[in-house]
Parts: sequence; structure tokens; C-alpha cells
Amino acid sequence: MSRPLRLVRILRVFSRYRLDEFINPALLPRPAQWALKVAPWRLRRAPDLPRGARLRKALEELGPVFIKFGQMLSTRRDLLPEDIADELARLQDDVPPFGAEQAVAIIEQSLGRPVDELFARFDRDPLASASVAQVHSAQLPGGEEVVVKVIRPDIESVIRQDVALMHTLARWVQRYLPDGRRLRPVEVVADYELVILDELDLGREAANASQLRRNFEDSKLVYIPEVYWDYTRTRVCVTERIHGIPVTDLETLRERGTDLKLLAERGVEIFFTQVFRDSFFHADMHPGNIFVDASDPADPTYIAVDCAIVGSLSDFDQYYLARNLLGIFRRDYHEVAQLHVECGWVPPHTRVQDFESAMRAVCEPVFEKPISEISFGQLLVYLFRTARRFDMSVQPSLVLLQKTLLNIEGLGRQLYPQLNLWDTAQPFLERWVQQRYSPQGMIKRLQRHAPTWLEQLPQLPEAVMDSLQQSRELEQRSLQQQQQLDHLQEALTARDRRRKQAIVASVLFGAAALAAAPGGWQWAMELPAISWLLVGAGLLLLWPRRG
Ligand SMILES: Nc1ncnc2c1ncn2[C@@H]1O[C@H](COP(=O)(O)OP(=O)(O)O)[C@@H](O)[C@H]1O
Ligand SMILES: [Mg+2]
Repeated sequence: MSRPLRLVRILRVFSRYRLDEFINPALLPRPAQWALKVAPWRLRRAPDLPRGARLRKALEELGPVFIKFGQMLSTRRDLLPEDIADELARLQDDVPPFGAEQAVAIIEQSLGRPVDELFARFDRDPLASASVAQVHSAQLPGGEEVVVKVIRPDIESVIRQDVALMHTLARWVQRYLPDGRRLRPVEVVADYELVILDELDLGREAANASQLRRNFEDSKLVYIPEVYWDYTRTRVCVTERIHGIPVTDLETLRERGTDLKLLAERGVEIFFTQVFRDSFFHADMHPGNIFVDASDPADPTYIAVDCAIVGSLSDFDQYYLARNLLGIFRRDYHEVAQLHVECGWVPPHTRVQDFESAMRAVCEPVFEKPISEISFGQLLVYLFRTARRFDMSVQPSLVLLQKTLLNIEGLGRQLYPQLNLWDTAQPFLERWVQQRYSPQGMIKRLQRHAPTWLEQLPQLPEAVMDSLQQSRELEQRSLQQQQQLDHLQEALTARDRRRKQAIVASVLFGAAALAAAPGGWQWAMELPAISWLLVGAGLLLLWPRRG
């Protein structure tokens, strides 16, 4: 479909669900205001549904790219009202599978060999089919059971077209919604574009999986299936098939006698290990991507698939997160606020007390609840919301992390409702902060940065010489300017001197002329005092002054 036509279709769907209600007509140009008033959909009754549900239905009708966008939006609880976020979280992408012939064609095109040669068996019925890719099971000639993930044919052009239109819509939202700017629509669409385009590259997904697998190689916490690199390209990826229990299948997990408390706690531990030890975390921890290996029910292991979205925190983000989480959980809002100002995360003119009381106002009600109901993720949402209000720009990596934390919490509490995240998290965070400032931690960081410094060392003399040269030039220039100023000063002083001489001379000449005139001084003596005062004042005004 051509772009303008697609845009018209989008607008038609939006208007059918009466989403124009979100717009503030006063912000529209006048012709658009009139158009809105006489729009034909006004004749029809609005669907009898709350606004969140109408938005969800409209997105469902617009197809996979919009559905995925809505799913991502649902996690931005720091930006959206609760009712809308809840509805969007219910979005399902029920996309029909594409034909096995198409999958086979893409595999053969990518790997350059017929499927019969590549695999000992290829199952034509897909295991799963989603908006971007489809998964088939198969067997390698060596007997290994695998899954083959194939990117949907022609999805790339659909994504590019829809994302381009979303950019247009985002600009409209920013301009015409009463609260449009605060929703940061342009930024949100740009983030989404990066995520969805990344998902088109299965090579990248496979690389993420490899890295995560390596990070947890010797751990009982989580298992990541192995990638078969010889069979992996941009549009096709082959990995080891796993046979875990879906994490949502509580019944089977219970039947097997799985230690659910341990499992829930391990989820939290995996998360904090990924974030603070590796600074590399699986950021798509929704239940469809998580399985459990309960072959030893007392010692269960997670299995994670679908590593398309990963997050990574900078040293700075890690520090920000650890210090603030500890501060919030100790209810030390003063420390949280002070950190924000001292570290320059908010502008220097921010009043610590204002930030502190804003944080207190949102966090205190949360701490009223029993610890098993307190949501870490929600506290982070509040922290970021407050920080934004005070003009801090929250990094996308932190937002991704907050979303993942909400997922982990949701998952953990489903498995074990009394889960106390703080029990697992606190020792972890305290150890991390301690280690960071221990002599060993310092040495480790020095060691990490030393190669960069060594790399830059040979350029150092040159840089120093450059800067010396620059400062010499600067000095030279300022000397010249000083000389010019001195000249100017002299010229001005000389001019003043001449003016003073001229005034004195004219007064003297005046006096002489008066004295020489017939009746000379007599006439002057008869002038009223006021005239003399005026002459005096005039002379004072003419007298050159410096200042
Ligand atoms: N290695 C695997 N072994 C077994 N099943 C898998 C494996 N990888 C994926 N699946 C199944 O396929 C589904 C979709 O795969 P996933 O990688 O999550 O794709 P998508 O990006 O479309 O969500 C998963 O939810 C899971 O049921
Ligand atoms: Mg998935």
C-alpha cells in the first residue's frame, strides 16, 4: 500500500475508535478544527468502550508493527496513565503463520543449499509464529535437535513504512495533544525503531545469545541454548532445541515438586548478576521467552530464549542505580535528592528539599504495603518520573532496565507470591557498592582503564605541546590587545587634556574680553547670582571626566 493511502487508513481506524477525543482542538490549525467538527464519524455512535480499550483495538487493527509498538508502550509506565498502560499490556499479536515453502525458500537463499541437505529433518508445521519471525523445529545431519528461526518475508518494508508513518504521527501527538510534549512521542518512536530494526537481524540476536551463554556457562541459574553459527545468517538462525516447562505452566511445575521459592529468588539473582556483574542483561524477559528445567526439582534452572533485546549499563548508570535503590529502600530521600544534585544529574539550581519531598510523596505510600507487595520496578518508575520533572534526562538503558525489572518481579511473584525482592537485592547492591570503593575495586578499574591511557600516552607530549602553543598564542594575542588598549587609553587622555586646555583657555579669553569691554567687569557684576550658577554648571558639564 502506498504511504499516503496507509496514512489515510491509519487515520480512518483512529477515527473509527474515536481516538480524536485525545486531541485538544484548540491546538489545531483552524481548518483542521472545522474539519474535526464536521467529520462524518461524529454521526456514528462512539464505541462503548473505555479509551484504553479503544486504543488497543485500533492498534490491533493496524497490524503487527503497531501491535508491537503498543506492547512496548505498555511498559512505559513512567510516561503513560495506568488505565492505558494496562490495556496495552493485553495486546496479543495473533499473526497467521506464513507458508513452509516461503520459510524453506528464505533458508535456502540464505544458506545457499537445499533444506534436504542442510537438515536431516525439517518440520514444516511451525512451532511458533510471531510478527517478525517464525520458528520451525528440525534435526541436523549429526542428529542434534534444533530450532530454525526465520524472518517473515517482506516484513522489513512493512516495518520501514509503518515506522516512518509513526514518526509523522508522533510529531502530531507532540503538537496537538494537550500533554503531548510530556509523552516524548518522537523519542519513544525513535527508540522503538532501533529495537524493531534490531529484531530483523538474527545474526545480532545469535551474538547476544552467545554472550549471555558464556556469562552463565558455569552457573546453575540460567541456561541459554547454543547457537549453530554455520547455520546462522541475517534472516535465519539455528539454535539448540530445549525442552523446558513454560514458566507460566505452574501446574506442571507444582506437579514436579519444583522449589518455586528458590526459582523466584533465582530470577531476581539472575537479574542483578546480569546488571551489576556483567552489565549485559536479557531485556525481553516476558513469560513466552522463559522456560524451566525442573529435572532436579529442588534445584531448578531457568532457560531463556529470544535474546533479540539486550540492555547494557554504563559504569555511570550502574552507580546511579545502586546508590538510588539503596537510598530509596532505606527511605533516605534526602540522600537520594542530595545525590541527584551533587552528581549533577539534575541542574545545579535544583533545591535538594524540593526533590526530597517529591520523592517522599510518591514513595511513602508504597512503603505502607507489606514488603511482598512492594514493587521495585514501580519505585524506579517513580524515581525516573521525579528526576524527569526536575529536568534530568533518563537514559534509554535505564528505562529498559526498569521494564525488565517489572517483568522479573511479575514473574517471580507469579511463582511465589510472598517473594521478598529486597532480601535478595540488598546484599547484592551493598556488596557491589562496597567492592566498587574497596582498594581491589579501585585497582581493578584502574587496570581496566590503563590500556586506554597507555594507548593515549604517546600522543600526550604532542597534546601538551599543542596546548602550550595555543596558550602561547593566546598570551601573544592578549598582549597585543593590551597594547591596543593602552594606545586607546593614551589617545583618550590626550583628547581630555586638550579639551581641558580649551575650556580653561576659553574662560580666560572670555574674562579678558569682558575686562577689555567698555564697562567690562561692572556689567558682569550686575548679573544675578543664578546666571553665574548656570555658567558654573555649564562649565562643570563640559569638563571631561574619566570613569
Ligand atoms: N531453542 C528453542 N527450543 C525450543 N523452543 C523454542 C526455542 N526457541 C524458541 N522456541 C519457541 O518459539 C517461540 C518463539 O521464539 P522466539 O525466539 O521467542 O521468537 P519471537 O522473537 O518471535 O518471540 C518461543 O516462545 C518458544 O516457544
Ligand atoms: Mg519471544
